[in-house]
Amino acid sequence: MAIRFDREAGTFTLHTKNSTYQMKVDENKVLLHTYFGALTDESDYSYLIVPDDHGFCAQPAGAGGDRRYSLDFYPQEYAVHGNGDFRVKALKARLVGKVPALDLRYESHRILEGKYTLPGLPHAWAEDGDAVQTLEIVLRDLYEEVYVTLLYGVYEEENLITRAAVIENRGDTALEVGRAMSLCLDFPEGEKDLVNFYGKHAGERQPERRTLGHGITEIASGRGTSSHQHNPFVILCDRDTTEESGACMAVSLLYSGSFQIQAEVDQFDSVRLVCGINDEDFCWTLSKGETFVTPEALISYADDGLGALTRGLQRAMYRRLIRSPWKDQRRPTLVNNWEATYFDFTGEKLLAIARQAARIGLDMLVLDDGWFGKRNDDNSGLGDWYVNEEKLGCTLGSLVQQVNDLGLKFGIWIEPEMVSEDSDLYREHPDWAMTIPGRDPVRGRNQLTLDLSRREVIAYMKDSIDALLDSANIAYIKWDMNRSVDNVFSAANPELSQGAVRHKYVLGLYEVMEHILEKHPDLLIEGCSGGGGRFDAGMLYYVPQIWCSDNTDAIERLWIHHGTSYGYPMSAVAAHVSVCPNHQNGRVTPFKTRGICAMQGSFGYELDLGKLTEEELQEAGEQIALYNANYDLFQRGDYYRLSSPAENGDFTAWSYVMPDGSRASLSVVYTDLHGNPKPHRIKWKGLIPDAHYLVDGRAYTGAALMHGGFVLPRPECNYDSYMAVAEKVEE
Ligand code: GLA
Repeated sequence: MAIRFDREAGTFTLHTKNSTYQMKVDENKVLLHTYFGALTDESDYSYLIVPDDHGFCAQPAGAGGDRRYSLDFYPQEYAVHGNGDFRVKALKARLVGKVPALDLRYESHRILEGKYTLPGLPHAWAEDGDAVQTLEIVLRDLYEEVYVTLLYGVYEEENLITRAAVIENRGDTALEVGRAMSLCLDFPEGEKDLVNFYGKHAGERQPERRTLGHGITEIASGRGTSSHQHNPFVILCDRDTTEESGACMAVSLLYSGSFQIQAEVDQFDSVRLVCGINDEDFCWTLSKGETFVTPEALISYADDGLGALTRGLQRAMYRRLIRSPWKDQRRPTLVNNWEATYFDFTGEKLLAIARQAARIGLDMLVLDDGWFGKRNDDNSGLGDWYVNEEKLGCTLGSLVQQVNDLGLKFGIWIEPEMVSEDSDLYREHPDWAMTIPGRDPVRGRNQLTLDLSRREVIAYMKDSIDALLDSANIAYIKWDMNRSVDNVFSAANPELSQGAVRHKYVLGLYEVMEHILEKHPDLLIEGCSGGGGRFDAGMLYYVPQIWCSDNTDAIERLWIHHGTSYGYPMSAVAAHVSVCPNHQNGRVTPFKTRGICAMQGSFGYELDLGKLTEEELQEAGEQIALYNANYDLFQRGDYYRLSSPAENGDFTAWSYVMPDGSRASLSVVYTDLHGNPKPHRIKWKGLIPDAHYLVDGRAYTGAALMHGGFVLPRPECNYDSYMAVAEKVEE
């Protein structure tokens, strides 16, 4: 049993295979957090809390004048505003006309088989009979009819615990919720490092590790999307934790909108981490009987380093979060015409690319931006999701048919959340765009954001995407979103706070995606937001892969893939080979290296295949064959970061290992050259020590490769690369 309740001690102990999480209902019915860490027993860990009369630490109601009891330093499960806790809170709410204050006390609980669901929100799932349990704990305010149900999903096998909270108003007066976090985690011991993933457009998810100091550290997005700049995923670890050893825990928020993660080190060096929807301008009003459901957060733990944490989380997300049937089917290799043509294409040009694609063994042509409305640059057309036949020289159906006749699938780009002012849609419904009346709107890429808090906008989006998908044999869509959202105002709901409209927008987006997936179950959707601006766990519930970055330079992608790998399965990373000099940074890299780098994820090309030399075309054909031959390894293998681009200036290396140890790949990209160079050696990981492996025709034991190491070939040119597969020899 993963979840145990000890009635006498009042403890709830949650076990996964490698971790234990404990809460306790204390004598005041406050729900304390007593333990999260390495797998341990069911002792009552509240003995670790040391009551003391600390100055300026107030007592909550019912503490009986015991000045040693204060919620200002007691670790809590879901800290609220208004009961004498002055650290960052999980929940802040007020009844209309009253001061915000809550004091939640334990009311009841239930332990259920299986996993709770969160309708309308992404969540980890389970199938009947899986080793998954749910714990529901109901808390109630001491004075008002305000209830909070804390939800826990415990995935024993996957070492995963999920959390969410449901806030309910059962009283007559409306409740204004100003902040409702998905989780709150208290650690009595401070001295922790926080690893977060910052970035920018074309430079997403760069890991950054800091020692948490006193005060509040915040990682957040207020851009309406999870954003390029920050990612709703962090790692909290001991200061001596490394890739290979030490305690660490990951927190991932399943949310694709504005988010907030705060870590506070308090006066006694305890650490509190909260994460959830960004509370900036947030206000959600609950009338009698209404509930507010927070997004879900995932937590997972490892006591053997960041590498193990990563692999555990990647596996858990692959198994329990990504739903697309495509995750287990072979996803098509593709050529995308964006960097090949940008807006300047015709049907004939696309077919010429498709013919080459078929010749070299690709599976799909993806038609990117510019095929619809009157869109020949990025100033017009968004919202008009009907094909520009004049540009294509034929109907979409006929183009797709011709592509299919070449033996290729057809995919198409859409950006349904946006509208151009120069579009039929905007001329007809200017109020569907979010702008602030009387002010010149803030534009991003010269476009406005549709108001997805409105039913008619949601209906338009569903209908236009359905009509597009019904009009031709479309196997895939690339769902883009190309601006940060500002001027959040809903003409239909002027009374709503900006934060509420932002959240309704995200709910609207999820609703449309759910609808599309239900109606078109075989459709493969690739997420995108100017590359990786919405690369989050929430999205992975709807799409199995995401365009990782608009930066297609193989060397900068080493950094982006490295950072992304900490929080997400590599099978979700879409990566393409593009031309040189690279369009984003002008760098020149060998064709081989671009291929090896793109094989780290869902593989494709983003160039005009017609402009490749015969030699390059042949090399592309070989790359595709290599990728296909190792598809299972790249998609389902365990991912090992063998060196970090931040720490090793000479090369970056990574490896995939089949879970049964039967095959492994090693990929290396050299990032610097030296005269009279020293030899480079590298240690493989995850192999079976006493098995024999063949690498480049030579036999090694797993132990030799892992402990002795492997000699890398000497690089022959700038940004040279190397890839090998270790094949276990049957004995
Ligand atoms: C975004 C995407 C690109 C491309 C363009 C088209 O930037 O990330 O891959 O689709 O939009 O406008």
